[in-house]
Amino acid sequence: MIELSNISKKFGQTPVLENLNLMVKPASRTVIVGPSGSGKTTLLRILAGFETPDSGRIMLSGKTLFDENTFVPAHQRGIGFVPQEGALFPHMKVGDNIAYGLHGSKHENRRRVAELMELVSLDSQLQHHWPHEISGGQQQRVALARALAQEPVLMLLDEPFSALDTGLRAATRKATAELLAHAGVASILVTHDQHEALSFASQIAVIRNGRFTQVGSPIEVYSQPVDEDTALFLGDALIFSAQVNGGFAHCILGNIPADNPQAAGEKRIMLRPEQVIISALNSDAENLNAVTISDVDFTGYLSTLTLSSPVWPAPLQVKTISQQNWRVGMPVKLAINGHACVLAD
Ligand SMILES: Nc1ncnc2c1ncn2[C@@H]1O[C@H](COP(=O)(O)OP(=O)(O)O)[C@@H](O)[C@H]1O
Ligand SMILES: [Mg+2]
Repeated sequence: MIELSNISKKFGQTPVLENLNLMVKPASRTVIVGPSGSGKTTLLRILAGFETPDSGRIMLSGKTLFDENTFVPAHQRGIGFVPQEGALFPHMKVGDNIAYGLHGSKHENRRRVAELMELVSLDSQLQHHWPHEISGGQQQRVALARALAQEPVLMLLDEPFSALDTGLRAATRKATAELLAHAGVASILVTHDQHEALSFASQIAVIRNGRFTQVGSPIEVYSQPVDEDTALFLGDALIFSAQVNGGFAHCILGNIPADNPQAAGEKRIMLRPEQVIISALNSDAENLNAVTISDVDFTGYLSTLTLSSPVWPAPLQVKTISQQNWRVGMPVKLAINGHACVLAD
């Protein structure tokens, strides 16, 4: 439905976006995730029509929005935009914020505002309030209702939940995903929060320094990241060296099936901590090379264990679900679930 080809943008001499390609399917949810300053907002502003790329092409539903000869202005694109912050007009009541940009009669607009407020689960009484009189979560829904008023085929959301605290954030994220699905609107959401990205997306594009390092499903980018930076950006990871051949990675944790049967030689491999199953070792079986717990950092539901072995070059830190019996000095045995991801050189 929307297709970006070779989008590049410089501010002055500084390249901010380089050769971005992306396809977004109708009614799907794409998340662009990357650290602050990686170019996410710039990309959304280009899609919305508030910024012009230096080169490339943008197509929406078969129509060219941008190429070397074409620039469709923002208000003719059929794209909704919920900006990063200060989304609402502070001097307009909630109802007027939502009605901004509606062109019907007063009566029609009132009916439409009521409809939109219901769609985003806002009590219709709130339309008479000022933005500062409602909560952050409600303000976010008002901004969404205002963008939905234009009946866009694509909705752009720039870190829409970042001002909300954790619980409200998850609930608002879920509600937004559901209402966009219900309205049949495709979305591109931008965030620096990997949990938000993995939870909201059907497709994730990881951006770093203005380039997409990887585009795929959440489970793909999480379990098979292309490189070390991408792996670490998306969550906790155990990364170490291995001798890879014949579809197996030989490493300090033993012989682990590798995700890439073609890979061979000295490689870096990655495991997610939940792949490492740690259990108590019967200490009767005297084993000088046993792995022992050398530190426990208890944080409630999760603990970070430091594991050591005389035959390892360095200790290993693993975040795992807490268990009451863990003690420093305790011997443990490790089992690995699933495949090791072989990282690119
Ligand atoms: N209008 C502008 N003029 C010059 N530099 C800009 C402008 N907008 C953004 N930048 C720079 O472009 C880079 C990417 O910014 P931005 O797209 O806002 O990143 P993100 O949203 O991922 O944090 C940053 O280095 C930022 O300073
Ligand atoms: Mg930004």
